[in-house]
Amino acid sequence: MSATAIILAAGEGTRMKSHHPKVMHKMLDHPLVWWVVRAARQAGADRVILVVGSGAQEVRDYFTTGEGKDESIEFVEQTKRLGTGHAVRTVIDTLGNIKGPVVVMNGDGPLLRPQTIAALINESKTNHNACTVLTMTPPDVSGYGRVAKDDQGAVTAIIEDKDCTPEQRQTLMECNSGVYCFCGRRLSENIGKITNDNAQGEYYLTDMVGIYVGMGEPVAAVHVDDYGELLGVNSRSQLAQVTKIMQRRINERLMAEGVGMLDPDQVWVGPEVSVGQDTVLLPQTFLWGKTTVGEDCTVGPNSRLTNATVGDRCLVDETIIVDSAIDNDVNCGPRAYLRGGAHFHDHSKAGTHVELKGTEVGEGSKVPHLSYLGDARLGKDVNIGGGTITCNYDGKHKSHTEIGDHVFVGSDVMLVAPVTIGDNALLGAASCITKDVPAGALSLERSRQMTREGWADAYWKRLEEED
Ligand code: UD1
Ligand code: CA
Repeated sequence: MSATAIILAAGEGTRMKSHHPKVMHKMLDHPLVWWVVRAARQAGADRVILVVGSGAQEVRDYFTTGEGKDESIEFVEQTKRLGTGHAVRTVIDTLGNIKGPVVVMNGDGPLLRPQTIAALINESKTNHNACTVLTMTPPDVSGYGRVAKDDQGAVTAIIEDKDCTPEQRQTLMECNSGVYCFCGRRLSENIGKITNDNAQGEYYLTDMVGIYVGMGEPVAAVHVDDYGELLGVNSRSQLAQVTKIMQRRINERLMAEGVGMLDPDQVWVGPEVSVGQDTVLLPQTFLWGKTTVGEDCTVGPNSRLTNATVGDRCLVDETIIVDSAIDNDVNCGPRAYLRGGAHFHDHSKAGTHVELKGTEVGEGSKVPHLSYLGDARLGKDVNIGGGTITCNYDGKHKSHTEIGDHVFVGSDVMLVAPVTIGDNALLGAASCITKDVPAGALSLERSRQMTREGWADAYWKRLEEED
């Protein structure tokens, strides 16, 4: 379904008490406006126009060069905030007339479902409406524009709360959600008719309804029963509220698909994450970005995975994985930190208090305790002793460490990169390895141990005699 979405995001969001524009605040791991753009796209909008104002640059940067990179989004800057009608008019003045269905949405309404938008567009097209308004009946109607209808139930106008008579304010319970589908052609022709002759001195987009009714153009309302879908964010408290709703929505979907959760209130999963059947997510687990987790895994407690790829049957215990992958049957943690393109092959292990950056760990290899491996490649069945560190940085350059298959690295070995260790080699504990080690060799770098028999006994005795 071809449609244009105009997303109003020029608002300052004073009540957020923030240096950032309201729509850049995050629900789960994505800014509010990202969710709105996504819902519009999923509903079939092939053109997305963002009206930006306050903090415009931050919003633009996010979509043009930042994490939300999407070159197809068009931006229109509304320098003076003269009302929602003015915002839409600025779009048409800047980009020219628009054809086809135009959905107007709020950048701070992140819970709206794509199906709801699609139904709105559908209703609008089927009946050739000039405007179709999405309406709701929230428990507290104060502040919302009210939908006025005639005896036949046809929409006659939207009256802003501040412009209502006391009687209208008491009796009109159906509210404008701020989401509409307009016919682009008729909107382009008539948007100029809106005036600012009202209580707030603003150009109200809602006035289009009355204007169309006066012209005899068809206008309709589509009521959304779950007003929760239309909640907007004006404060940090409301941000927490919508985040909770989205957290539940995502977790319910995952559980319906066969993902286990000890306590779904303590698991946070982003919208672009996939989790396989029979995987269990334990409390304080965060799955962010484009993370995928396979089947039969246990993730958590206390784990954060961002853009991580996890295979099947893995254990990820108190572990952080960022931009890295573990294949099948890999155990991590407790307290492992994998980042910057680390890659663990099948049946390998990242143990406790280990950090691995940009390091490939071959099949069956183990890094069990207290190690840092950076810019390294380990072959198969390698054992890395506790406390081993790759010295990969000389203050300026990063250097590579290459370790062959079946290598045994003793505890507390320093591998000063660049360095290559051949297959089956053995490195003695506490060695500082600065030169390449050929395959099958033992390499040991430590001073000879000195032992004096009876020396300590004599020493303790001497100390005793001093008292
Ligand atoms: C608007 C509707 C009201 C509806 C309510 C639902 C109007 C006149 N009223 O009221 O009927 O019940 O939404 O939430 O439209 N914006 C701009 N530029 C502007 C003004 C606003 O981009 O010049 C953006 C805001 O950032 C916000 C959205 O438009 O995202 C709505 O504006 P707001 O002033 O909050 O409208 P309401 O008074 O809430
Ligand atoms: Ca508002």
